[in-house]
Amino acid sequence: MGKEKKTFYLTTAISYPNGEPHIGHAYEAIITDTIARYHRLFENNVIFLTGTDEHGIKMLQTAKRLNLTAKQLADKNAPLFIKMLKEVNSTHDDFIRTTEERHKIACIEIWNRMSQNDDIYKGKYAGWYSIRDEAYYEEKELTKKNGQFYSPQGTEVTWVEEESYFFRLSKYQDRLLEHYKNNPKFILPESRKNEVIKFVQSGLKDLSISRTTFDWGINVPNDDSHVMYVWVDALTNYLTGVHFPSETYKNYWPANYHIIGKDILRFHAVYWPAFLLSANIELPLTVFAHGFLFNRGVKMSKSLGNVVSPGELIEKYGIDQLRYFFLREVSMGNDGNYDDESISRRVNADLANDLGNLIQRSCSMVQKNCDGIIPSISSELNDDDLNINSNVASLASRIEILVETLEFNKILSEIWEQISNLNKYFSDQKPWELRKNNNERMQTVLFITLNNIRKIAIMLLPVIPTSSEKILNLLNINDADRTFKSITDENIDISDNRLGEVTPIFPKVEISDE
Ligand code: MSP
Repeated sequence: MGKEKKTFYLTTAISYPNGEPHIGHAYEAIITDTIARYHRLFENNVIFLTGTDEHGIKMLQTAKRLNLTAKQLADKNAPLFIKMLKEVNSTHDDFIRTTEERHKIACIEIWNRMSQNDDIYKGKYAGWYSIRDEAYYEEKELTKKNGQFYSPQGTEVTWVEEESYFFRLSKYQDRLLEHYKNNPKFILPESRKNEVIKFVQSGLKDLSISRTTFDWGINVPNDDSHVMYVWVDALTNYLTGVHFPSETYKNYWPANYHIIGKDILRFHAVYWPAFLLSANIELPLTVFAHGFLFNRGVKMSKSLGNVVSPGELIEKYGIDQLRYFFLREVSMGNDGNYDDESISRRVNADLANDLGNLIQRSCSMVQKNCDGIIPSISSELNDDDLNINSNVASLASRIEILVETLEFNKILSEIWEQISNLNKYFSDQKPWELRKNNNERMQTVLFITLNNIRKIAIMLLPVIPTSSEKILNLLNINDADRTFKSITDENIDISDNRLGEVTPIFPKVEISDE
């Protein structure tokens, strides 16, 4: 029997399909997909869930403006999110739409469990609500400009008064604080944890969890005049995705990571664990809040006309190039910037020059001087050979550690440090001169170079999957030998492999002088 696979469940936020997907949605999908791919490479049993959040007043209002029903709007836009996921090469296992029947069943169950625990009561809500955020705010959190109140996210709020069911959030204040303390990885990155703790310490009020002034949502059990607050509905998607309320949900639950943006941390780190505690369901292990992407430092907005569609960028640079750029350039948890110059610079310097040229130069030599067949080690290994081998191989265990903390920019800078060492090795050994006077040594140098390119390509599979596949195809590596374990497997010998056609893997992009 082999080693038992560990289950690994991770999710993105589910997006509002009230418009087309933008680069922020693509960014979140790319990060989450990269984590999922690393864990599959570590041979874990991964489930990766994403989807769309289709209920709520925001969807209803947008639909009305477009003369559509909310369901028609969701049906029109959900496929655009599915298309975007395909374009970014996402390997999600499931795409959930909250209007699906399976989701209704999960929501009713969690509501009933919270209610059985005496955590739901009927009252009247009178307070502020932001439709854009689908969030309730206390007046002390708002700022006033020209007579209008704004939420901490800068969105407009309106005064709402209606009958509502409430969730006894206040009851969970101490248990939440204790959970944060005892589970230091529950909220990451560290820098965001304090803002959550402060919010909870400042005193939690019970939360309104139903609406009566519109009916676009899941009905409250035994009371058709109320629909569930859209966040109760939306958060529950994480359970629906693993077949809750069927007991088999426990095969994957608790989720390892909920990957979300920093703007929705409160819902995930305060409301969601409180609902779960009430329903007597285990809490997810980590809620990771990533930063926001800005276009040249400016927030994307329709009114500024700077909304870039992921499709446009992918067409311009290629999806692996974009995946590489975001993961390399943005430190996870921080905000990031993108613009044409920085993307082009990264693509040309790191991909086309450092990695691309190395592959091109070394493989062309094998093509020309070894009949296209990877040579074997034909001379005794010297210190240069041993050093580069051990430096590249030791990256594998470093990466396993850095994947845990989602430090992709570090992973990539460490990989590129070794690519640069391998380039130096290749230039210093001068195999083109060895060709003339020491054929055995040339063969060894070419073997060592290509074998380390193989290892690097495997480490990069989760980040630039299509290009890494191309590199591994070029080296004619078996499918079975493309796992993380094979990086350090001494039995894998690529000598005698026939190379595929040597063509540039990363074309250079023109840098515009705008
Ligand atoms: N529907 C809610 C989430 C419910 S999860 C149970 C929602 N949807 S959203 O469409 O507004 O955002 C989806 C995700 O995209 C969120 O995690 C959000 O933080 C993220 N982003 C939205 N704009 C972004 C950027 N400009 N940059 C990076 N991520 C951003 O919130």
